[in-house]
Amino acid sequence: MVCYNSDLMKIQVITLFPEMFEGVLGSSMLFKAQEKKLVSFEYINLRDFGLGPRQQVDDTPYGGGDGMLLKPEPIVAAIEVAKANDPGAVVILPTPRGKVYKQSHAKKLAKDLSGIIIVCPRYEGYDERITNWIDQSYCIGNYVLTGGELPAMVIIDSVVRLIPGVLGGNMSAEIESFQKDDNNIEFPQYTRPEVFKGMKVPDILLSGHHGEIQKWRDKESRDK
Ligand code: ADE
Repeated sequence: MVCYNSDLMKIQVITLFPEMFEGVLGSSMLFKAQEKKLVSFEYINLRDFGLGPRQQVDDTPYGGGDGMLLKPEPIVAAIEVAKANDPGAVVILPTPRGKVYKQSHAKKLAKDLSGIIIVCPRYEGYDERITNWIDQSYCIGNYVLTGGELPAMVIIDSVVRLIPGVLGGNMSAEIESFQKDDNNIEFPQYTRPEVFKGMKVPDILLSGHHGEIQKWRDKESRDK
């Protein structure tokens, strides 16, 4: 039996665009998870740590090149504030240069941790020296996005749904079987009506034979 952390999970997000998170973290299951006090979200605006009268957070790259890089001082100052709030938190950086993010990572984060700090880079990247303050870097897929906010939301969603009580029902058993490995794909499912535009629900699902239904689902998962 896998034991999931049942304390409040504190998630702090360091970003220049906290408003991007409102819709995603403020809706549906992630909203309910906050209401149930299973998770808390806090936003730390990187701009507040910007330098000088213009609160500068970016600068041109040494050696030349297009675009701007996030300067190290504001990011590190923001991480230090987040760490002071939650000294045991793990610091995560979404980046195309990170490890490919998988279900097993989500599972480990949900199981082991009570605090996560996610740093969202923007512009063309960040000064490499910030990586000394990062514990784990993840790439959510082989494509490049304009910033770390969307990957951060993907990581948050995938972790929070694994916290016991978030999805309701007895999810943990389901989690264990569903997550035997990172390649497990769900079987197809159907609901009413039994026939839709001439397409019929597979007979086996109407048979009431639970053992046979399970065998069919296992086979469909494997075949996919
Ligand atoms: N930032 C930009 N693209 C990304 C990706 N695919 N994964 C994680 N962070 C990113």
